[in-house]
Amino acid sequence: MITKHRNVATFMMANLESIKIQSVDCEETWPIRRAVLYPRGPEEGIHIPGDEKGLHFGAFLISDPSFPDKLQLTSVISLFYDKFPSHLTPLLPNITCTGNEQFKALRFRKFATLNDFQNQGIGSRLFQFVVDHARDDSSLGPGTIVWCAARRSAQDWYIKRGMRVFGDSYFKNGIEFVTMAIII
Ligand SMILES: CC(C)(COP(=O)(O)OP(=O)(O)OC[C@H]1O[C@@H](n2cnc3c(N)ncnc32)[C@H](O)[C@@H]1OP(=O)(O)O)[C@@H](O)C(=O)NCCC(=O)NCCS
Repeated sequence: MITKHRNVATFMMANLESIKIQSVDCEETWPIRRAVLYPRGPEEGIHIPGDEKGLHFGAFLISDPSFPDKLQLTSVISLFYDKFPSHLTPLLPNITCTGNEQFKALRFRKFATLNDFQNQGIGSRLFQFVVDHARDDSSLGPGTIVWCAARRSAQDWYIKRGMRVFGDSYFKNGIEFVTMAIII
């Protein structure tokens, strides 16, 4: 079971709305995964084996500061202690990288922002929150790999945030993916 180090963070947005990032139950991520990532299925793309062992975060929009309890879940991401793919480790930089040892690699999955809320900076906040969370995780430490199987369509988004491509792309359910990672 993955442990919680950072539980909550609140950020003011440029438009004076604010977002609150906090852990959520995996079931809360499913409607956003479905709406954004797999609107036409398949169902196994939405629920992943081991979901209950992950740590799931959501970014909630607080659009009216007078009603801080009125929150809308706009973006989700899920974290797992999954090893970096072994066939790609030879491509990792030659540093004291501990990423392929057990519990030294953190994988994020099913990152999605509701279509109506994309391009407002919410995903960037959630991504940075996850990187900070990995830095705070004492079971990981320097040289940790934070990685994902990224959709090719999101590759440039991740590159802009410091991630790199490892290996060739591949297709799953008709969607092109590429392995990406950042070493922290
Ligand atoms: C990737 C995603 C989670 C980012 O969330 P978000 O809330 O839209 O992120 P932000 O608003 O912080 O990012 C906005 C920036 O990313 C850029 N951007 C948005 N989509 C992009 C893409 N596919 N590729 C490159 N840049 C992109 C915007 O132009 C904007 O750039 P700017 O900061 O220079 O103005 C969201 O776009 C999404 O859900 N996409 C569809 C699902 C998906 O591909 N998820 C990733 C699976 S690996």
